Amino acid sequence: MNDAILSPIEAALRLSPDNPPLLDAYVQAALGAALPGRLVAVLGELALEPNRLTAALRLKIGNALIEDGLLERALHWLPDDSAEALLVRARVLLALDQRPAARETWTRARELAPGIDDGGLGASLDERVVSIASARKATEKLQTNIPPASGGDDVVRLFQPKQQRITFADVGGLAEVKAQIRKRIITPFQKPSLFQRFSRKAGGGVLMYGPPGCGKTLLARATAGECSASFFNVAVSDVLDLYIGESERKLRAVFDQARRAKPAVLFFDEVEALGGKRQYSRESGTAKLVSQFLSELDGFERNNEGVLILAATNVPWAVDPAFRRPGRFDRVLFVPPPDQEAREDILRGLLKGRPVAGTIDTGFIARQTGGFSGADLTHLVDEAVDQAIEASMQQGEDVPLTDPMLKSALKDTKPTTLEWLTTARNYARYANEAGQYDEVLAFLDRHGQR
Ligand SMILES: Nc1ncnc2c1ncn2[C@@H]1O[C@H](COP(=O)(O)OP(=O)(O)O)[C@@H](O)[C@H]1O
Ligand SMILES: [Mg+2]
Repeated sequence: MNDAILSPIEAALRLSPDNPPLLDAYVQAALGAALPGRLVAVLGELALEPNRLTAALRLKIGNALIEDGLLERALHWLPDDSAEALLVRARVLLALDQRPAARETWTRARELAPGIDDGGLGASLDERVVSIASARKATEKLQTNIPPASGGDDVVRLFQPKQQRITFADVGGLAEVKAQIRKRIITPFQKPSLFQRFSRKAGGGVLMYGPPGCGKTLLARATAGECSASFFNVAVSDVLDLYIGESERKLRAVFDQARRAKPAVLFFDEVEALGGKRQYSRESGTAKLVSQFLSELDGFERNNEGVLILAATNVPWAVDPAFRRPGRFDRVLFVPPPDQEAREDILRGLLKGRPVAGTIDTGFIARQTGGFSGADLTHLVDEAVDQAIEASMQQGEDVPLTDPMLKSALKDTKPTTLEWLTTARNYARYANEAGQYDEVLAFLDRHGQR
């Protein structure tokens, strides 16, 4: 049937590939028949490059290819002239695990349309695993309108997450870090009068550091959940702006917004991007931004009621030491890779609420996953879930997740924290000023890796 329609048009197109209306008709027909793979194969065979089509058609082709799971080919056909198209492209890149390119594309989209709703893509960029399903969501996003160019508050709205509330119970392991945050942040926040009676100042923020994917962002969100506070997740690279004065304006807006929304947790991620090696920075713009950031922090010390400040970095050795002065990020916490018990805890959390058959030997998997981050474990479970979904599609009925699926996923997943630990070990050994990496050394000792 489809063939009966498409074949004659293809034959005609072969005879006159330079006929725009014919080309157009063929694209529409092939998309109408939901055969984007065949479409791009024929176009490729006729050496018809994407730039021969309008951006609107290319976007349609790209989306149809995504629908069919042909992500790489979608990249070839998607246009890159509009913010929407760039967001779709960024999602595809992320689904293909090309994170840096995804982030760059996402940034370009937001430069073109600062107020655009990215459907949570920015947040996903911080996580390691993205399913094809979320790449598909790109299609739905096409309908979104671009709000008018940003003025004052629009900037901040970008940072407003629309996520559900989570608490410490949702964070596996990390008992020590949780206890520290509870003692140093949550209790002073919930019982200010106790601190007043003892004349103990509660100001200052907490800086978390550790290998990527081990729960820093998660802990920050959970801290907000524990306090029933609003959560502002600010990627410092979002604040940095090419234009002089613009970064300062955004930074001010972020702090103002948090003050207005209190109680609030204001979380600065990738904080090293802000303070990185100020002494080497020839751009006075960056130095000025750091100063402003620090003075906002100092201002918080005086006027911080109801706003908690947390920050995180994967590269603590690149963070400006000025950040660690009293009243700023004077409490520094190491968020280590999960140990065996914590891994089992995380695995159980990940399996909760999923259809499972038989018993799953989480103990075995926890033992086999030394060096895995929480994000790696999420990836592992996602791989196994993909197998269950595939089996369900083949058998036409729901196939639950099983122990062998998880064990087979184990073969395709690798730990990602080891490289970080190797680097950290060098800093801890040779640049451990004021014992700032003692916790890392203690961790390495416990694991016989020092
Ligand atoms: N301790 C943990 N418990 C449960 N899930 C975790 C844990 N650590 C990481 N994850 C999973 O990995 C993802 C990435 O973690 P994240 O907090 O963003 O890491 P980081 O900020 O340290 O790079 C989380 O969204 C979560 O799914
Ligand atoms: Mg993070």
